[in-house]
Amino acid sequence: MTGERERHWRTVYTDKQPNAVSWYQPTPEQSLLALDRFGAEPGQSLIDIGGGASTLVDALLARGWGDVTVLDIAAPALAAAQARLGVASANVAWEVADITEWQPPRRYDVWHDRAVFHFLTTPEQRAAYVRALGEGLAADGLVIIATFALDGPEKCSGLAVERYDADRLAAKLGPGFTLAADWRDEHITPWGARQAFTWCVFSRTD
Ligand SMILES: C[S@@+](CC[C@H](N)C(=O)[O-])C[C@H]1O[C@@H](n2cnc3c(N)ncnc32)[C@H](O)[C@@H]1O
Repeated sequence: MTGERERHWRTVYTDKQPNAVSWYQPTPEQSLLALDRFGAEPGQSLIDIGGGASTLVDALLARGWGDVTVLDIAAPALAAAQARLGVASANVAWEVADITEWQPPRRYDVWHDRAVFHFLTTPEQRAAYVRALGEGLAADGLVIIATFALDGPEKCSGLAVERYDADRLAAKLGPGFTLAADWRDEHITPWGARQAFTWCVFSRTD
């Protein structure tokens, strides 16, 4: 899938400013809430899957996190985040990769994914993601995944998405992960549209 998908997302981030895409949020409130609620700390490591040009990395650096990786299929998305951060971007690890083909080189304490898993529309893509998650997450790691809710949009960025409630997402991750919490949030796009999200936190079962 990489070629077509990579072209799609590269074009999105080449054509649009980071704050002009539907998923833009000035502050990653729900992500920070999830980290706080589960006691994630700046001394831990975190990978933001499909982080794009998200401001999560800015917020983490401001809180003193020192081991943050941002992975995205679109190089221009990471370039935009790097330009915004300036010299601080040197304190972040950046990975251009398709999560369904990525081999984690190490394990992370926190796996964060806002609005990426829902683009995986085939069982093969989801299995590849879950395999990467299993290989990349520390034994006592935390998984934070946000997808469109069952009544959320059917498409994002012109691409079809799968929509989830917590049970459905837990079933897709499989028995290796235990649901610790879930909640609903309504994201407001830069042009004022409402998008219902399902937020889930999982721990490893073993
Ligand atoms: C809706 S955006 C969300 C961006 C970011 N997580 C946020 O909350 O602002 C989806 C992101 O996932 C990236 N993406 C899509 N498919 C991907 C894949 N297979 N592997 C890695 N990144 C992917 C896109 O380039 C884009 O940055």
